[in-house]
Amino acid sequence: MPTYGKEEIRNLTKVIESGNFADKPGGFMDQFRSDFARDLRAKHAIAGATAMVLMQAIPGAIGAGAGDEIICDPIVQFHGLVCLHANIVPVWADVTRDSFLMDPKSVEERITERTRAIWVTHLWGFPAEVEELRRIADSHGIYLLEDCAHAIFAEYKGKYLGNWGHIGTFSFNMAKQLPTGEGAMAITNDDRLAAELNKRIIFGESPVVLSSNYRMTEFQAAVGVEQLKKVPGYLDTYREGKEILDSAIADCPWLDRRGETAESVVAPYWWVCIFRGEREGVDYGVFQAALRQAGAMFGIGFTQRPAYLYEIFRNPNAYGNKGCPYDCRHYGGEVDWAEGLCPVAEDVMPRLVITSNMVSVEAAREKAASLREAIRLAESGDVEPITYSEAEKLVLELVEADGPLDPSEVMEAFKNKGRGELDEHAMFTLMEGLRHRFPYKLSYAGPRKYAYHDLS
Ligand SMILES: Cc1ncc(COP(=O)(O)O)c(C=O)c1O
Repeated sequence: MPTYGKEEIRNLTKVIESGNFADKPGGFMDQFRSDFARDLRAKHAIAGATAMVLMQAIPGAIGAGAGDEIICDPIVQFHGLVCLHANIVPVWADVTRDSFLMDPKSVEERITERTRAIWVTHLWGFPAEVEELRRIADSHGIYLLEDCAHAIFAEYKGKYLGNWGHIGTFSFNMAKQLPTGEGAMAITNDDRLAAELNKRIIFGESPVVLSSNYRMTEFQAAVGVEQLKKVPGYLDTYREGKEILDSAIADCPWLDRRGETAESVVAPYWWVCIFRGEREGVDYGVFQAALRQAGAMFGIGFTQRPAYLYEIFRNPNAYGNKGCPYDCRHYGGEVDWAEGLCPVAEDVMPRLVITSNMVSVEAAREKAASLREAIRLAESGDVEPITYSEAEKLVLELVEADGPLDPSEVMEAFKNKGRGELDEHAMFTLMEGLRHRFPYKLSYAGPRKYAYHDLS
């Protein structure tokens, strides 16, 4: 939905004509940082290449590392990965049942003498209970970090998100409300933290602390300064779209509207509702088939399971596979991540019915109409079962049993079963088709690899 036009082109032309595309005094990066800080009402804004790398600089900036723990949201995996990069143990707090945002009660229960920070995600644009989380952080002398990748200009109690914690980060990748290709900004109201973060993301030739180069370029900033002005207008459209989508399920007793934190203003990103078909005898598989039949492009289940049930967190291949951070000699805790660790997250994740909310009002109306039709079909039971070809079924079986797999590995397995009919390109096309095919059964798991998700 974002629009790009003559303002962005004018700025990009200026960058090219200047012959210097890197951060420079008086350039677009200076302007982007200062406009962003002003508009988000923060003291400092620090620009970076992506949100992931800016976040990777944060443990160092807050003095966290080996032997420490950071409390993370289990629905997404970003902060767990940042922890592993810094030899920190991620500790997973559960989420609330109706808004699936970090539950402060669960956070409080998981604090130990090793906890250095709470990393809250304002998931899909909905503000979490940041006042309470900040109170908990302050009472334990630890940091509150806010991931605002989906939540630019979202508010809690009249204050923009990113200002409740010690540091807030925003992503500008192409899927975000403020897209610049790649790019990110961190905000903070703390002079010391701003300096610590800056030291770690640009090292020049002789670093004073362990740092790297996570720089943004003038190209992103040239687009960013213009997009920043447009985001409030986009959000008005997305908010209207949210109301339209909410009203599509208003009379449906088995799809629950997502709860909002009191006194908050959301910045719609993805629209989500919660499947509770068991209440009315509506089968999950029938609803999936109904969505497909109605041409309603809603995903179900996001990544299905909380981060701690994924292999990368159970057996991280970090630090030369020596078992760190869990077996690190500096770590005094114990990692025991059985199913049931975050029961609410485990229950709610497969129930999430999701679509992008960053669309025009017209597109939101179309989505709402297709969702209404899917509800009608699911309730009537007049639904064609979802079918797969023999080759598709075999691919799904193989990836489920042995995945993640890439197309050449699946092709080899086909050959071993006496089926050599698909070359690598045909197999890639078939697997990509399954990845796009609704309901989603395959997703990317690293370069060229596909993982299986059981969405039934
Ligand atoms: C919640 C959240 N945090 C962080 C990131 C990482 O952002 P980036 O792509 O800028 O590294 C994303 C990206 O999708 C995200 O959704």
